[in-house]
Amino acid sequence: SDTKKWSGRFEEPVSALVERYTASIGFDYRLAAYDIQGSLAHARMLSAQGIITQDDLSAIEQGLRQIGDEIRDGRLEWSLQLEDVHLNIEKRLTELIGDAGKRLHTGRSRNDQVATDIRLYLRASIDEISQLTRSLQWSIVNLAENHTATAMPGFTHLQVAQPVTFGHHLMAYFEMFKRDVTRLSDCRKRANQLPLGAAALAGTSYPIDRRHVAQSLSFDGICENSLDAVSDRDFAIEFCACAALMMTHLSRFSEELILWMSPAIGFVSLADRFCTGSSIMPQKKNPDVPELVRGKTGRINGHLIALLTLMKAQPLAYNKDNQEDKEPLFDTVDTLIDTLRIYADMLSGIRVNPEAMRKAAMQGFSTATDLADYLVKKGIPFRDAHEIVARSVRYAEHKMCDLSDLTISELQQFSAIIEDDVFAVLTLQGSLNSRNHPGGTAPEQVRAAIVRAKNWLSEE
Ligand code: ARG
Repeated sequence: SDTKKWSGRFEEPVSALVERYTASIGFDYRLAAYDIQGSLAHARMLSAQGIITQDDLSAIEQGLRQIGDEIRDGRLEWSLQLEDVHLNIEKRLTELIGDAGKRLHTGRSRNDQVATDIRLYLRASIDEISQLTRSLQWSIVNLAENHTATAMPGFTHLQVAQPVTFGHHLMAYFEMFKRDVTRLSDCRKRANQLPLGAAALAGTSYPIDRRHVAQSLSFDGICENSLDAVSDRDFAIEFCACAALMMTHLSRFSEELILWMSPAIGFVSLADRFCTGSSIMPQKKNPDVPELVRGKTGRINGHLIALLTLMKAQPLAYNKDNQEDKEPLFDTVDTLIDTLRIYADMLSGIRVNPEAMRKAAMQGFSTATDLADYLVKKGIPFRDAHEIVARSVRYAEHKMCDLSDLTISELQQFSAIIEDDVFAVLTLQGSLNSRNHPGGTAPEQVRAAIVRAKNWLSEE
């Protein structure tokens, strides 16, 4: 068929199966807006360099604008025969404006074209994801602000360890997402380099001006080596690695929400719109959303491995393998964006049960370390203090009460040095207030952390 750009070279058309197998239009149509943007910049440069005429440029600009409208209104029919988004748009352009449309591809190849499109797409996606992450961080900060002094058990090994404030616990996630945002902005720098001009792999004999194109598309610079420009997908891999870490953070958060929502723990409950019931057990309210976030983390990790595996044995320069970069990348972006959106909303609708948290913190002898520290401050070596407290805990455990429920004479059985002032450190608030240094869980420090967080969020 003469719709194919290379038809003169072949004696028979490809089979329908091969056509379907090799086509990417089913997913890369999503690059259309970026493809048009890249083509406009390329055409303007060609005209500025005298490679095409001003009239050709005007026709191309008008034609591409019309195609953009057609796509937006769903009036352009994508054709599988035309393989991908690039050939579909070029074919339509030629239908609309004739020979000028055929001149657009001068000094360009689909290899540098598609690499440019993906970078433009990824850059926009990174910007959107960074914004959404910041919104999520605002939700975290706002929730933490209401709980700077809410005591809960801090865990190690999922055993009650020491009391922390719920605000402090939440702010741990703020830190993770802060690293994620900075990682994304670092990834963006390397993604934001222009491949166009590399043409198929070796560059082009036309007097092109790559910096002109880079500037008009707001790239930070140009890819320095034409072979690397068309074959590099590091930026996609880096992004997927950032995304996998973000999903890991969201998945850990989800795991905690799921645990906290279990009736046996009951620290929080989620708004009904994030939960579902059971078709058989009428009492159930299941945390489906956090469970799915945890589950979807698996596919995001999978996409990262898929891209690494895609690249690992490719010789330079472009290979058709690269067409397989898109679906994992698109799905990573889509999944992450949906997850971030739903999470910010879910956190603002969370209901906290401080009484359940306080009770749980009282149950596991969470202030035992505080008693040991109290003894150390009175001159007992830490290892001896540790042993004294261990025996007190065993005693309280037999009595089925907390350390703070023991009388002073009971405590003095384990060390005569203990006095009435011990009760100030055995209470949850005493324990929390004592951890009063930057990074500590004392309410005063959590409030300071929240101020720093708000300042960070308000920058730029
Ligand atoms: N659809 C292709 C891709 O996604 C575009 C580049 C094709 N280039 C080529 N020489 N076949 O990578």
